[in-house]
Amino acid sequence: MSKITTLDEFILHNENLHPESTGKLSSLLRDIGVAAKIVNREVNKAGLVNILGIEGSENFTGDMVQKLDIFANEKMISLLSNSGECAAIVSEENEEMISVPKVKNINANYLVAMDPLDGSSNIDVNVSVGTIFGIYKIQDENKEVTAESFLQKGVEVIAAGYVLYGTSTMLVYTTGNGVNGFTLDPSIGEFCLSHPNIKIPDRGNYYSVNQGYYLKFDVEMRRYIDYCSDLNLRLRYIGSMVSDVHRMLFQGGIFLYPNTRKYPQGKLRLLYECVPMSMVVEQAGGHAINTKLERIMEVQPVNIHQRSTIVIGSPAMVKEMQEFIKKYTQHEV
Ligand code: AHG
Ligand code: MN
Ligand code: MN
Repeated sequence: MSKITTLDEFILHNENLHPESTGKLSSLLRDIGVAAKIVNREVNKAGLVNILGIEGSENFTGDMVQKLDIFANEKMISLLSNSGECAAIVSEENEEMISVPKVKNINANYLVAMDPLDGSSNIDVNVSVGTIFGIYKIQDENKEVTAESFLQKGVEVIAAGYVLYGTSTMLVYTTGNGVNGFTLDPSIGEFCLSHPNIKIPDRGNYYSVNQGYYLKFDVEMRRYIDYCSDLNLRLRYIGSMVSDVHRMLFQGGIFLYPNTRKYPQGKLRLLYECVPMSMVVEQAGGHAINTKLERIMEVQPVNIHQRSTIVIGSPAMVKEMQEFIKKYTQHEV
């Protein structure tokens, strides 16, 4: 029987391979792993304990009901705050950046941008959800950390990943040296290395887009969707980017969230949805661009909550999509 490698062992092993690393990132990653287990526990019992429902209402025991996305946000913030390695957090659930007080008066080196619960419309119906995170280094240690400190291009991100609370719970992450996937073994409560060195297929049989918005897409997008349909590609759309991109990562395919009339800049958030997922997909050999054909990882953010369009997935399919945009677009690209 082959030896099981836990997430902690894996992180430690990688740290030993890179003696120049200080170990601080490792401990932050381990803390994210712990937070993921706690969120997972709540996601799993969501149907049982009536944690669902409207935030602020009372459940049957008389406790205040807390929505799972708020719970996940609080748990992530509290674990990141105690880690001592994170100076500030940007979360989808908080308009302002959250400053983290120093632990033991030691300066922290990292910033974390996160979507604590991705796919929240799926929670109440027992369908997969996720958590997304991106870790940035503080660029200037002598400057006070502000929201501006987060306005770094994706190429500056030093680690990124996601947790998928699906039929099993997986943590997939990269530190810029390939992508590895860990599956939570509930019997021992550990994430175990199950998918080492993930490589996305060059092409796949799936496309993933909210086709319900077809008439609200630009003409080039509609042409591309028609083309996918002509090729008999299978449409899959879960409504949780984590789950949809996870499928692409393993089976190949393309995920798109273009601009619509309601969301002229796209709906998904650059810092804590598009960039981390792009880093993972690129590290697995895939591509990620916006509909202006810019590489997501090279976009300069101007706002911590800014939105972006995204086309992400198998390299050959993203390239093909790019050709469609060039051919049919009515805008300058
Ligand atoms: P969140 O639950 O964090 O707000 O994110 C949901 C996002 C994304 O995960 C998903 O792909 C997309 O919104 C679904 O949006 P539509 O319902 O507009 O397709
Ligand atoms: Mn989301
Ligand atoms: Mn969310």
